[in-house]
Amino acid sequence: MAANIIDGKALAHKLRETITEDVSQLRQDGVIPHLTVIIAGDDPASKSYVRGKEKATQQTGISFDVIDMPAAISEKELLDSIRELNHDKSVHGILVQLPLPEHIDEQNVIQTIHPDKDVDGFHPVNIGKLMSGQATFLPCTPYGIMTMLEAYNISVKGKHAVVIGRSRIVGRPVGQLLLNQDATVTYCHSKTHQLTAYAASADILITAVGKANMINSEAIKEGAVIIDVGMNRLDDGSLTGDVDFSSAAEKASYITPVPKGVGPMTITMLLKNTVQAAKGLSY
Ligand code: GUN
Repeated sequence: MAANIIDGKALAHKLRETITEDVSQLRQDGVIPHLTVIIAGDDPASKSYVRGKEKATQQTGISFDVIDMPAAISEKELLDSIRELNHDKSVHGILVQLPLPEHIDEQNVIQTIHPDKDVDGFHPVNIGKLMSGQATFLPCTPYGIMTMLEAYNISVKGKHAVVIGRSRIVGRPVGQLLLNQDATVTYCHSKTHQLTAYAASADILITAVGKANMINSEAIKEGAVIIDVGMNRLDDGSLTGDVDFSSAAEKASYITPVPKGVGPMTITMLLKNTVQAAKGLSY
């Protein structure tokens, strides 16, 4: 079987057109959707992600600003700034770029953001809502994955979904969302024995590990749907996923490429969450 390619870039483009229309309508109604990003330190990868968010917001008409803090900022100063943003009515979404400098407790930071402005969907209140199947801000990558599956009419009901990776940002929430839609979910991680056997039994395989080409066709069931969240930079500068794309594509029914798969969807869902926050839909 030659797999259908799930084109995240094209889908993201289409969604961004709708988001742009929503933003324009909000502006006509006197609401300027605004996202504030806080970044602490000079990590080049984080800086580049933030630039990506800035570009995407500008393209859709969302107002954006970034608060650049030195790596040595104290936790108290960072939390105080978040509290100010919580009270600022012109700010609808707050995102603190991770990772943070080591002396800052990430969980304290996440919990200080008001749940109604938590466009990352990381606040425990929003995670709790996700776990209990209530409407909330969904974490952007899992939200993007579920949106891709829906756009390609891939039903997960009753299917065996195997999630490799148990991060709080991707693995855990995407498994929960799949469960909420009646998939049978198995989580695998770095300590899992017989990982290949689990992967090979998946109707839907989600890989969020960060290891180039760790999954090849041996670990893929004929006709499986493969969602590759990995973004691994090779020595020659090219990007590749966790899945060996060419061999996997021979067996899968659907597969996301890297790049142009999950990546473009993640920022798109951040835009969507920001618009949702601006609409005042406090969940
Ligand atoms: N760093 C890497 N991914 C993310 C993300 O989704 N949100 C935030 N805040 N930081 C990140």
